[in-house]
Amino acid sequence: MPVYNSKLDCPVVIPYYGGKYELSRKLVPMLPPHVRYFEPFFGGGSMFFRKGLASWNVLNDIDNDLINLYISIAEEYDKFIEYVSWLPRSRELHELYKKEFKKRPPYKIPDYKKAAHYFYIIRNSFNNVPLGTFSKDTYWGTSIIDELRLSKNKLNRATIENLDFVKLVERYSPIREKDLFYFDPPYVVAEKKKYYRNNFNYEKHNQLANVCNIINDGGGKFLISYDDKPEIREFYKDFYLSTVDTKYMGANPEHRGKVKSELVITNYKIKVQEELFS
Ligand SMILES: C[S@@+](CC[C@H](N)C(=O)[O-])C[C@H]1O[C@@H](n2cnc3c(N)ncnc32)[C@H](O)[C@@H]1O
Repeated sequence: MPVYNSKLDCPVVIPYYGGKYELSRKLVPMLPPHVRYFEPFFGGGSMFFRKGLASWNVLNDIDNDLINLYISIAEEYDKFIEYVSWLPRSRELHELYKKEFKKRPPYKIPDYKKAAHYFYIIRNSFNNVPLGTFSKDTYWGTSIIDELRLSKNKLNRATIENLDFVKLVERYSPIREKDLFYFDPPYVVAEKKKYYRNNFNYEKHNQLANVCNIINDGGGKFLISYDDKPEIREFYKDFYLSTVDTKYMGANPEHRGKVKSELVITNYKIKVQEELFS
């Protein structure tokens, strides 16, 4: 598993399964200068948490549990922390919150508590997937709270949205010249469907290609990280295609640690920047 949050340079809230925690070290220097930064498939947000802040940062995901977690940390931080710090690490509680997550209870709980339960399940699950089994190896101690403060400081500088990516781009249109979009869509071949509630079909991959054309025509910039598949290369054949190596960190222990190649698509020539933002 990636080392998360103990690192000041990428204070993610959750170690997102299939996230770009490691790869973002290579991708961040590939980003061009920008004023508005968009991350429409936010997930664990490794890119945002690793890169310097832009003047305007827009984070989006269709998953409302995830977005509720980020909004709770950004806006109800004290209540969230107070509540989380009283939750003991226990298999029973983990089971209870998992049931709650699978089958929405008829009673309403405040958003920050719902966020705390979601956070609790992920941080204490094997492989950090929401419906994973309880892991005895996870860390659930006081330094989580110090780490979350770093995440909050960054989240406070962002606008957080909960939209389908097509609607997000529409909402922030017209595209501006100094706009930058980082897309990390669900893979063409999702490894284990049950881990993601929001997988993509061909239609969605096609929609993303259309959205990228709109951004390009509007003078904005984009970078996409994708699995390297012929159909994706075909969609983006008019843009810059390159590959970067990354270590596989998914659930399959047989492949864990093996180097795999990730496709990087941009509508600009990549110039690796040493130090873009403070
Ligand atoms: C591969 S993950 C992103 C991982 C992230 N880059 C990281 O480092 O943790 C893809 C994300 O896209 C979200 N997603 C799936 N379909 C979506 C849609 N139609 N619009 C917006 N977000 C979507 C999923 O909920 C998931 O969080």
